[in-house]
Amino acid sequence: MAPGNSSPSTSSSSSSSSTTVRPSSSSSFTPSSRPPVSDLSFGPQTHPRPTASTPTLPSASGLPAIRRVEQIGRHIHTSPATMSNPQEFKQAPHKLLVIPGPIEVADDVLLANAHPSMSHVSPDFVPVLGDCIRMFRDCLLAPEAQPVITAGSGTLGWDHVAANVIEPGEEALVLNSGYFGDSFAECLEVYGSKVTQIKAPIGSKPSLQEVEAELKKKKYKVLTFTHVDTSTGVLSDAKGLGELVKRVSPETILVLDGVCSVASEEIRMDEWGIDVVLTASQKGLGCPPGLMLLAASKKAIKAFESRKTRPNSYYASWAKWIPVMKAYEAGTGAYFGTPPTNLLYALHASLTKITKKSPSIEERWAMHKAASDRIKNYVQKELGLDQLVQDGIKDGAHGMTAVRYPKGFKAADLLPRLVKRDVVFAAGLHKECKDEYFRIGAMGQVTVVEDAKNGQIDHLLKSLKEALEEAGYKK
Ligand SMILES: Cc1ncc(COP(=O)(O)O)c(C=O)c1O
Repeated sequence: MAPGNSSPSTSSSSSSSSTTVRPSSSSSFTPSSRPPVSDLSFGPQTHPRPTASTPTLPSASGLPAIRRVEQIGRHIHTSPATMSNPQEFKQAPHKLLVIPGPIEVADDVLLANAHPSMSHVSPDFVPVLGDCIRMFRDCLLAPEAQPVITAGSGTLGWDHVAANVIEPGEEALVLNSGYFGDSFAECLEVYGSKVTQIKAPIGSKPSLQEVEAELKKKKYKVLTFTHVDTSTGVLSDAKGLGELVKRVSPETILVLDGVCSVASEEIRMDEWGIDVVLTASQKGLGCPPGLMLLAASKKAIKAFESRKTRPNSYYASWAKWIPVMKAYEAGTGAYFGTPPTNLLYALHASLTKITKKSPSIEERWAMHKAASDRIKNYVQKELGLDQLVQDGIKDGAHGMTAVRYPKGFKAADLLPRLVKRDVVFAAGLHKECKDEYFRIGAMGQVTVVEDAKNGQIDHLLKSLKEALEEAGYKK
């Protein structure tokens, strides 16, 4: 039996709380007066919290990283006062949540979130965020990158790019493969970037040839693309774009929106020459929503340090956050904005699984591909339904599938029938065709990595078939 949260039948993002059925398995600043960025006069307030009650010494800093990670893991698992044995904790029975994020969260990750309240600069907590920073690098195969992890959601990652990497009046090229391309472009414009978009037809992505031609027309400071556009299920060619930028426009900062791809799609940030990867906690990373995570290459940091204007955001300023991240990683801690300590315990638990345990990150990507192939084949061959991406197995994402309703069907015919079976799918999202399709998310530890134990994929497919039949669909 499969676990899952509940949400209304036709909304792509909202949720309700009925749970019953399934046992859980588991300044007045002007440019002329501006100081260089390296003079951090508008920079961080990296004052360690210097009080006797909240000492800033890293208690665990003497341990090798792996032992420290394990020790924190044990601490997480035994901390909640009433939970002597973590095996005892099982989340409440609930509907299976198979939307493209938030996703199902493992019991131990939820339990980690239930950690007693901690000082964010205490010696016990500092290594938690420090480890998360290191493990996030491992997750992206980016040993040189500078992570930033803060409270927020994936959207905040766009603000970080728009406020730090590019300056008002500079050119940005946005590759648009759906809803999230429109949004990233809008965000960049809000911060004063001059945005050009290459828009692909629904269900596809701009070709490398189109991108090359555009890069040869003018100098772009930034090129952004949505690795997986969650509205369409299109997977972009991150590696190909990395090679293209290196060859045609090596100064351009290449930004990957990985909100729907980190930990479910292959990403080799360093090797592929990706300069910024931004994401959120609630999808492939298998955590509750509430964290923004990004990693910046040396090239992206250099672009930031060479700014003529200061970052045009306060909360999203790298001048504030990067020194804080470095301090946590060094084991001392520092303060800009209070980190969401509990969520970071949860992130620590999930990143530990992703980067320190079996399966390896490469195996995890392969498991997502296998699960995705299974879903796409079933939908296509067994149910006779089309996808938004014409050849979903070749060009589609591996953590989600966007499926067209049978002719004459709409969301109200199908999604409530799935909810009745305690399975929550998402409605369409792309503004031009949202009523024509629904979306299945299959990402992360619980639904994909532990599918052999949980049987969630069989369950969602069977439920889909039954719901279609009940609605009168015949292949
Ligand atoms: C590809 C993509 N980018 C950005 C976002 C925005 O992330 P958030 O909703 O966490 O702010 C989403 C959300 O689903 C997304 O799928």
